[in-house]
Amino acid sequence: MSIDYQAGADGIATLTWQMSDAPMNVLNAASMAAYAAAVRRAIVDPAVKGVIVTSAKPEFIAGGDLNMLLAFSDAQAMTRFTEELHALMRGIEKSGKPFVAALNGSALGGGYEVALSCHRRIAADNPKAQIGLPEVGLGLLPGGGGTQRLPRLIGIRPALPYLLEGKKVSPAQALKAGMVDEVVPPAELLARARAWLLAAKPEDAVQPWDRKGFKLPGGPVQSPAGYETFTAGNALLRARTFGNYPAPEAIMSCVYNGCQVDIDTALKIEGREFVKLTVGPVSKNMIRTLFFGIGEANKLAARPKGVPPASYRRVGILGAGMMGAGIACAAAEAGLDVVLLDTTSELAARGKAYGEARWAKQAEQGRLSAEKCAALAARIRPTADFAALDGCDIVVEAVFEDRALKADVTRKAEAQLAPDAIFASNTSTLPISGLAQASARPANFIGLHFFSPAEKMPLVEVIVGKATSESCLARALDFVKALRKTPIVVNDSRGFYTSRVFSTYVGEGLTLLAEGVAPALIENAGRMAGMPVGPLALADEVSLELMARIRRQTADDLGSAYQRSAIDEVCERMVDSALGRLGKKAGKGFYEYPQGATKHLWAGLAGLWKPASVQPGVAEVKQRLMAVQSIETVRCLEEGVLRAPIDADVGAILGWGFPACLGGPIGQIHSRGVAAFVADCDELARRHGPRFEPPKSLRAMAAEGKTFFAR
Ligand code: NAI
Repeated sequence: MSIDYQAGADGIATLTWQMSDAPMNVLNAASMAAYAAAVRRAIVDPAVKGVIVTSAKPEFIAGGDLNMLLAFSDAQAMTRFTEELHALMRGIEKSGKPFVAALNGSALGGGYEVALSCHRRIAADNPKAQIGLPEVGLGLLPGGGGTQRLPRLIGIRPALPYLLEGKKVSPAQALKAGMVDEVVPPAELLARARAWLLAAKPEDAVQPWDRKGFKLPGGPVQSPAGYETFTAGNALLRARTFGNYPAPEAIMSCVYNGCQVDIDTALKIEGREFVKLTVGPVSKNMIRTLFFGIGEANKLAARPKGVPPASYRRVGILGAGMMGAGIACAAAEAGLDVVLLDTTSELAARGKAYGEARWAKQAEQGRLSAEKCAALAARIRPTADFAALDGCDIVVEAVFEDRALKADVTRKAEAQLAPDAIFASNTSTLPISGLAQASARPANFIGLHFFSPAEKMPLVEVIVGKATSESCLARALDFVKALRKTPIVVNDSRGFYTSRVFSTYVGEGLTLLAEGVAPALIENAGRMAGMPVGPLALADEVSLELMARIRRQTADDLGSAYQRSAIDEVCERMVDSALGRLGKKAGKGFYEYPQGATKHLWAGLAGLWKPASVQPGVAEVKQRLMAVQSIETVRCLEEGVLRAPIDADVGAILGWGFPACLGGPIGQIHSRGVAAFVADCDELARRHGPRFEPPKSLRAMAAEGKTFFAR
């Protein structure tokens, strides 16, 4: 039973959504059919004077059923579904009977669209409830009339942040914005809805857009303001997305075209765009990774079973530098007490000051009270004394990237800790099993690789060493969850997963440079492929000096097995004393970083490598920069560094900003098709060398017609 139907003696029918087979009410074929039947019953029953639509679950309706949307690949079936939904909503609007949406909790996406098709929206004053149309965040558009009804209700300009950015608001804010008509105490919700229906006049059962002489609030599309909104908006979108994300552009087009015609024609326009997005690859990639992938990771799907949940009260952090200070911030914000240790109390205090500066800024912006600010700061205790680590449930080590130093602080910290306390290293490159050799209890030693800035970046790469116990892994995952971050679990290897794959992007950029490809072309191609920054800018960010040092260390470790490449040559040449271009921190790398002005590519770069006589096209450079990442990811899967393809995609999107529209490095192969991707790689390998050689497992998958994901 999806919809409960109650007809009152006063002529008010109440349609209550309560899907028994799902944790939340969602819009899918079954619930829509049940809702349609209930709506029809209310409309045809002459005893019914008005209708309340509400829910028996904590939220009203959470939105479209994403499992269903992910499964739809047939445009015709999707078109039918959309047309039926529109017909149902128009049926309500034109029934002549007043419908009230009584929003007891969150009304998102399709849920808010159900509410928009009612003649009035009354929301319970529930500060936890959210109202909005977040579809764009998953590569979709509000396909239940949202792109047409919201602008008609509140005006085009005010509607755009909801449609284009997926902005969500509380009921109180929704009232201010005109998205709901009333906000009432939760206990009075149904009574208020009923009272309004009983007093409703015939014109109350007509939507504004169905009234004679209806005018768009805020003015029509064809006006100076409308012209400005659409030309500026479209230009901004293009500049931001390079056409990689079709949803925002489709939304703009729906609003622009739809708001110049009657609502029925407008819904047809919206329907066409919606179907295109739903069956296209971008929404599939985004739903699979951003919704299901991250959702599962946050539910700790990788947590070993049978280990009792661990709770955290106090965390020790070794090293109050960039990473240590950021992790301390995140821990304090998650309500933990922090012992922040560095070699001197001044350095430790400087780490704490980083958090204090962040909170002071938030207080200045009115986002944090002075008391909260002080309470957060009070949670961090800076020290230079290892004895202060006594009583810590977990220690996160973030000292310099130096094996001997890390071994030394491991021994000193462990001497203060309870035997089952976890020791976690935030190393970005050193294999965990090697570092664990310094530990007296390697079963409780694990890698927790945070990303910079650690207080903001959502991902933690959890690295399981050879000796790490299942219990340690489970408890470390509980810690990541306590910090409100998203974990992926990987097995130990040089560079783990994220650093290893991400460095292939940078490496390919440097290789292109050594081939004489124009630096601006390399950078633009990276951005146009959807990466947050070009590979050369990223190399500067990481520091060319650090890259050169890591490569030297790896060469020493691997001896004759190390294969030198153009990347070594470029790094060495840049950091060589003759040029001394060490990266962003040093103020000069591939880019110049003039004080108070934006960075620009260093002009001297052009003369360092002989320009290629024929420059490649943007598409080819893009393909090289993105394909190397997918290939290295498959190698990580093959070697067992990664445990599941979806971990790769979640890690890449959250860790280094791999474009979600491509669905991550594995999603990219999946949407291209395994066989087609293998053929692409063969061609790239032929032209550019064996690093593009498709891994064996991928070739086998192509031959057997296998895919990484069911959908
Ligand atoms: P950093 O140089 O900013 O900070 C290191 C801190 O460790 C300094 O404050 C230093 O005084 C302190 N330290 C040195 N010896 C110590 C000792 N014996 N006891 C206590 N503290 C000591 O370095 P950063 O960038 O914070 O990196 C720290 C670790 O995190 C490294 O292992 C690095 O590879 C890793 N990492 C760095 C990332 C980044 O983006 N910078 C990202 C992820 C991991």
